[in-house]
Parts: sequence; structure tokens; C-alpha cells
Amino acid sequence: MLAIIGGTGLTQLANLNITRREVVRTPYGDPSGALTFGEINGNEVVFIARHGYGHTIPPHEINYRANIWALAQQKVRGIVAVASVGGIREDLPPGTVVIPDQIIDYSWARKHTYFEGADRPVTHVDFTLPFSPDLREEILRAVRGVANCARDGGVYACTQGPRLETKAEIKRIENDGGDMVGMTGMPEAALARELGVPYAMLAVVSNWAAGKHDSATEIHLDAANDAFAAAMKKVHKILECMSGACTPCHMTMGN
Ligand code: HPA
Repeated sequence: MLAIIGGTGLTQLANLNITRREVVRTPYGDPSGALTFGEINGNEVVFIARHGYGHTIPPHEINYRANIWALAQQKVRGIVAVASVGGIREDLPPGTVVIPDQIIDYSWARKHTYFEGADRPVTHVDFTLPFSPDLREEILRAVRGVANCARDGGVYACTQGPRLETKAEIKRIENDGGDMVGMTGMPEAALARELGVPYAMLAVVSNWAAGKHDSATEIHLDAANDAFAAAMKKVHKILECMSGACTPCHMTMGN
């Protein structure tokens, strides 16, 4: 069974045939909401909305440990995380879907590990490749079935939020090698690695990052713009294709 973490704009899966909901408690507290079990194309998936089903939990208050623990407990074979980002790289305009392959973490003061406390061994998990290459490849196969509607590769920079970045911060992140910026990829990805669950991301570009194409001097993170809606359509299609039974898709979707 595959797990899907929905981000901004994805509090439910339209193509999900819901079979049951389950409230799960963990040693780390409560997840963002009940786990929703269902089927896409006859394949079982479990879904959780990262910000809660009413989108009430901001990035720095998400209980990432509880969310990942709850999904890992279901013995999922992988986690596909959907996350909205600001585009930094020139070829990542709003409306683009990206499958990032690297992370730089600028977040702080988040509960970011399961290995803490005197009773836990000192553990340093390998994180050279923060996203599972196998799960990325599985996503990319689906992408190729959906008119190549997503970009392969990019560096996801995770900021603390909830405020957006300054222009100088984005310049710095760009100099560091960041291609897109979001607030939720970490510690999510690292926690999945600590529990040995393959994790990969569908990053949805909702806006240009601060100072990029600064015709828009103020950034509004509403999930209501047309480009974002178009990108979310691609996300739905990719998830559908990942669940097998994907008939060749002739959707016309620019990337
Ligand atoms: N910055 C940080 N997180 C984001 C952005 C952004 O510009 N857009 C969507 N999530």
C-alpha cells in the first residue's frame, strides 16, 4: 500500500474511493488528522492531509513525527508527499510540478528525529539521497505516462515559515543551489528515512519565490490561482497512474 501526504490544495483525493477512516495515536502525539484508506484504480492507498482536513495547521506546528509514524505503522511501501513550493529556478514557473532529488534544510526548532532521549541509541541515518531513488523512478514512470507533465530533479529548500522569505534570503538559497522553496519537506523526509520508509515528493509550484519575477511584489499563497489548479490536476493524474491501470494519457498539459 502506498501512502500519500496531501499538502496545500490537496486535503482530499477526488479519485479516491474511500473505504474507511482511522484515528491513530502515536507515542509522539496525534497526527494531523485521521488516516483515510481507500482505493485508486483498485489499488489501496492511505492518505493524510498534512495541514489537517480544514487546513488549520501551519507548517511549523505540524506533528511530523506523528504523521510519519502513523503511516509507517500501516506498513506502507512508500510515501508520496505532495508539497507546494515557490519557484526559484527559471524553468520552474507557477503551475509546474517537480520531482525534486535533493534537499537543503533551513528549518529550525522542529521535532526532527525519533532518536532522542537517553534510552535511544545515537544514530546517524544516511541521507545522501534524501528521496528514495526507486520511488522517484516509479513516480517518473507515471509522469511519462501523463504527457511528461513534471520536471525530473531539483533542490528543495525547506524554510521555517510561516512567513515567506525575503528577497535576500531567496538569493542566498539560490546561491546555495536551491531550485524551489517550501516549508514542509523537512523534517518529513528525514523522519521517513529514520523509519526506513521510502519517501519522494511531488512539488507543486504555486508562485515565484520572493524577488523572482518581481512584477508580483507581494506573494499571496492562495491555492486558488489558475496555475496552481492546473498543476494539481497533473498531481491527481500522476497519482492515478502510479496506482497502475493507467491507460495512455493524452491530456494536453504544458510543463
Ligand atoms: N516560500 C516558502 N514556501 C512556499 C512558497 C514560498 O514562496 N510557496 C509555497 N510554499
